[in-house]
Amino acid sequence: MDNDNRIVTTMERNEDLENENNLRPKWLSEYIGQEKVKNQLDIYIKAAKQRHEPLDHTLLYGPPGLGKTTLANIIGNEMGVNVKITSGPAIERQGDLASILTNLSEGDVLFIDEIHRLNRSIEEILYPAMEDFAIDIIIGKGPTARSVRLDLPKFTLIGATTRAGLLTSPLRDRFGVILNLELYGIDDLIKIVNRSAGILNVQIDKSGSTEIGRRSRGTPRIANRLLKRVRDYAQVLENGYINSQISNDALNLMEIDDLGLDRTDRKILLTMIESFPNRPVGLDTLAVTTGEDKNTLEDVYEPYLIRIGFINRTQRGRLVTKKAYDHLGLFYSQDEENEQIEFKVGE
Ligand code: ADE
Repeated sequence: MDNDNRIVTTMERNEDLENENNLRPKWLSEYIGQEKVKNQLDIYIKAAKQRHEPLDHTLLYGPPGLGKTTLANIIGNEMGVNVKITSGPAIERQGDLASILTNLSEGDVLFIDEIHRLNRSIEEILYPAMEDFAIDIIIGKGPTARSVRLDLPKFTLIGATTRAGLLTSPLRDRFGVILNLELYGIDDLIKIVNRSAGILNVQIDKSGSTEIGRRSRGTPRIANRLLKRVRDYAQVLENGYINSQISNDALNLMEIDDLGLDRTDRKILLTMIESFPNRPVGLDTLAVTTGEDKNTLEDVYEPYLIRIGFINRTQRGRLVTKKAYDHLGLFYSQDEENEQIEFKVGE
């Protein structure tokens, strides 16, 4: 299935933009979870404000839907500056970036989503911009061409990417703050669902928000989307009040199972089990066999499957665990366990 059409996709859909605009926390104090990130940001923001300086350039990385754009807006609010939002693929020419940079005001935040997708020649403009707050513009052509240095206002670049390793090292090295956003735990997701239900004026009890939180794949964007769909179900088929039974019925109707897996997740796991029994499988092979894009597999599906212990990443490739077999109601042979122990890395 096209990833963007899945109800549990982490990619941003139009409804999320409306949804997230009013559901998004505006201040650090309202932001639920990501304690390590919040604690660090809180200190760096306070320190920068005390010195009357902009915050250092900050790189946020982690799976989609965890609140990178939200954090960029929060940083802007906390610093009391404007936030200009763009993305790597939207900047097509060097001139586009030059014009964005020269239009910033002192202290502004420039947020570049999917910064790893910036064209290399455009990326190079960022180096002096980040380091010296200046850009070099070439005026003229051929032998008479000369480079003119233009000063920029002091600004904060906030870059967002799914994996820090996707960035070239010259770009990565120019960020003073590098923060990793992790998938959310169930308690934080429940709090997020309750907070959003309050803003949307939806009546929900603890069992209802627990059921939605549990099936949100560790991702607030999905939690908010599922809440809206369960709200529709409750409104049309029940009395509008969300409890665990109604959440359960609505989510089952959407074919989202009790761990938040949808048909695509199950297809990935089943393909791995059926086509590569007892064997680790490489990402490229898995992409071909499942018909899913390699990057989507790695950035969107895999993090949650790893988080819930259904897939192990080994040096030889990915392996499905016994836990996943059990969840799918399949028999797990001992040989597979030996293989997993032998090649498991880390932990
Ligand atoms: N909505 C989406 N992400 C959130 C978060 N981390 N805290 C509060 N509300 C949110």
